Amino acid sequence: MEALRAVQILNPSGEIHMPRPDHPRVLCVANQKGGVGKTTTTVNLAVALALHGNRVLVVDLDPQGNASTGLNVPHHAGVPDVYDCLIDNVPLAEVAQAVEGIPNLFCVPATIDLAGAEIELVSVVARESRLQRAIAGHPEKFDYVFIDCPPSLGLLTVNALCAAQEVLIPIQCEYYALEGLNQLINNINLVRQHLNPTLDVSTILLTMYDRRTRLADAVEQDVRNHFGSKVLDAVIPRNVRVSEAPSYGQSVMTYDPGSRGATSYFEAALEIAMRGVNTGGAA
Ligand SMILES: Nc1ncnc2c1ncn2[C@@H]1O[C@H](COP(=O)(O)OP(=O)(O)O)[C@@H](O)[C@H]1O
Ligand SMILES: [Mg+2]
Repeated sequence: MEALRAVQILNPSGEIHMPRPDHPRVLCVANQKGGVGKTTTTVNLAVALALHGNRVLVVDLDPQGNASTGLNVPHHAGVPDVYDCLIDNVPLAEVAQAVEGIPNLFCVPATIDLAGAEIELVSVVARESRLQRAIAGHPEKFDYVFIDCPPSLGLLTVNALCAAQEVLIPIQCEYYALEGLNQLINNINLVRQHLNPTLDVSTILLTMYDRRTRLADAVEQDVRNHFGSKVLDAVIPRNVRVSEAPSYGQSVMTYDPGSRGATSYFEAALEIAMRGVNTGGAA
């Protein structure tokens, strides 16, 4: 069974396709809480979609550069990064790097430079829409662009919300999961009113689910009652292989494709792809 799953996920023959959307889908992966699985979700969904016939770009918008690390993309000081696009108008295509070993997957890295952007953006022209312009100006059309947000609601996250059509919110299945979410939703509503009228919270993903606890089940019910069909059927379990993968510069998809973590992210990616086809992209 595990070997079969691994073949399905690694797709060595390239035979298995997740349907491609009819227009580029830009998803902002946001939650101002740290450690809820934003980066893990970004990296694994991006790899899953790219392994199954989609052209995918990951934009690392967190100065910690965890998505760049997870995809094994160089992001030490001095490497051209998303900061250069936001502050100095460098075209995105000039800083995007191909992800080794995963055809059709590209990453715009974040270096430590990005730490200053939150403050420097305050005084630049059109400070909220710098990323939107950079993505729109990319000559190539990606099927998916995933923007991995920092754990805050500052100008970097606002840039991501302006650049996206969809918001994907990972929610960790723990007691305080819903606390603070109102603040995120309020910010999304503000951006919708003033800057990006078609922005839609399209997808909620439950992460780090521990089925041994009754609490996880209660949180899941809460989230499903509150967000209804936006919540993916696929739930990501707490799985040690998921947390080991980044230290090898890999996603769990390639690090241990037979693991429950990989299977769950594969299912989540497939659901996202199917929804994109059924609704014509952004709902
Ligand atoms: N499903 C999972 N099972 C086990 N560990 C996980 C899982 N998802 C994420 N982690 C670990 O939890 C930590 C926080 O995840 P991360 O994706 O970096 O969160 P965020 O980007 O929201 O701060 C990381 O160490 C990551 O490896
Ligand atoms: Mg992160």
